[in-house]
Amino acid sequence: MPGDILLVTLTVAALAISGVALSEGVVLPAHPVLSETASDLLTRLIPDATPNATQLRRGRSLVIAGDCVSCHLRAGGAPLAGGLGLNTPFGTIYSSNITGDTDTGIGAWTPDQFNRAMHDGIGVRGENLYPAFPYPWFRHVSRTDNDSMLAWLKTTPAVRYVPPKTDLPFPLNLRFIVKGWNLLFLDTDRATADAAKSSDWNRGAYLVEGLGHCSACHTPKNAFGADKSGHHLQGGTLSDWVAPDLTGNTRTGLGRWNADEIREFLQTGRNVRAAAGGTMAEVITYSTSLMAPDDLRAIATYLKGQAPSDTVKHDAPDAGAMRRGAAIYSDACASCHFDNGVGQPRYFPPLGNNAMLQQADATGLGHLILAGSRVGTSPSRASPLTMPSFAWKLTDSQIADVGTYIRNSWGNEAAPLKTVDVRDLRKRLGLTDLRLTPSSGDRR
Ligand code: HEC
Ligand code: HEC
Ligand code: HEC
Repeated sequence: MPGDILLVTLTVAALAISGVALSEGVVLPAHPVLSETASDLLTRLIPDATPNATQLRRGRSLVIAGDCVSCHLRAGGAPLAGGLGLNTPFGTIYSSNITGDTDTGIGAWTPDQFNRAMHDGIGVRGENLYPAFPYPWFRHVSRTDNDSMLAWLKTTPAVRYVPPKTDLPFPLNLRFIVKGWNLLFLDTDRATADAAKSSDWNRGAYLVEGLGHCSACHTPKNAFGADKSGHHLQGGTLSDWVAPDLTGNTRTGLGRWNADEIREFLQTGRNVRAAAGGTMAEVITYSTSLMAPDDLRAIATYLKGQAPSDTVKHDAPDAGAMRRGAAIYSDACASCHFDNGVGQPRYFPPLGNNAMLQQADATGLGHLILAGSRVGTSPSRASPLTMPSFAWKLTDSQIADVGTYIRNSWGNEAAPLKTVDVRDLRKRLGLTDLRLTPSSGDRR
């Protein structure tokens, strides 16, 4: 094989690894770090007398829309000081310090440098940043908005802190490899504006496709960890949580939700149909619950305009699994979700005609039953409702049966939750050795 072809082949092979490692394999923490200091920083009054008050308010509202805090906050750390480890199968990528500190943060950055990071994923020393930092979405943010964000970030309390060094194994430690990924997958000309649509729709498109980076989780990924084309917002799996289909599909998507229900969900983490757990909890806590109601309405308008994904037909589920699942449901779940799955809307989510339950990939459901989940908090719903963990209480096949049962009851229709998948998930989540007493737990 001639040398240059070999080189190209090797580079592409390396990119394949980096793509999977950097995007698809990123494991975010299961629950948001609940930090009062962070919430305070994002909501504190900016007095009129502050120089540039209007630009600073705007900058902060954009930082909120970009959910910067979720990733740039580690447990016990100061907000925006970074140091949160995003786990990939090849190593951990640590978020940077983006406080106003001039040495260790971005206090000394120029607007051009900040714009280059957001738009091209290039750091202050000219190095490529890994796409675990969502610049593939942030590149759609306007220059004026970037300038406002930097202005506000520079006013945040300077925190002197150097996050642990990201040290991926060869060849991923060579940051220039990301240049190849950018060439192949960076969306350079996606238009988020459409003059034929309402201003609400356009504002929603700008937020969803840009700062909000909703499709980072809600779009399935290809083998290189980039968005799978033709499946925009049709649901994706990341960190073993399934971010549901957000298109107009009436079973798996938001087809049954009206715009105000979407707004309420984003503002409070709850509505009459669902609750925001898994990785959506942190999006609610540090981003959407603090966004302006008009922006939330714009997002809802844009999402309601998404053409429905294809509907898949399913075979009738196994009768034995349904019978066993019903019995487990009655004992383990009905106390909160009620016998007929109607739940207690806004407290215990109703399970009938539930989009989350009908996702093609049942991983999120397995995760929820094994590990439990906490709803994202918001200023108006400050206490995190929780669903308990059943890892210690139900066997893998019992979890599969009850999962299959609720995925096929009360109007729902979906492929079964499989025992082998629950077993693998239990291992990945490290819940294999949970035994509270010798007589409790999952004995096999
Ligand atoms: C999904 C997680 C995530 C989100 C959300 C996120 N970041 Fe980051 N950010 C990272 C990671 C990880 C890095 C480090 C990347 C690297 O080392 O290559 C980073 C790096 C950066 C850098 C480069 C800093 C430096 O010293 O080189 C800037 C600037 C930045 N982020 C700003 C932001 C802003 C502003 C927002 C919100 C609009 C934001 N980030 C949201 C994960 C995130
Ligand atoms: C103690 C009360 C309680 C019990 C018991 C309980 N749940 Fe939940 N469940 C909740 C709460 C609260 C939520 C919202 C948490 C979240 O989504 O993060 C929830 C969320 C869910 C959801 C997600 C719905 C959505 O739209 O997001 C499903 C599915 C679910 N539970 C199934 C079950 C199953 C199956 C069982 C029994 C094995 C069960 N629950 C037992 C309280 C409970
Ligand atoms: C970090 C990953 C992540 C990001 C970013 C994210 N989501 Fe989600 N989202 C999820 C997950 C996971 C769920 C499922 C939550 C559950 O099962 O309780 C979800 C659930 C939802 C739901 C409820 C769907 C249903 O059928 O129950 C809506 C609506 C939603 N997200 C909208 C958005 C919007 C709008 C954005 C961008 C502003 C966004 N999400 C960004 C991970 C994410």
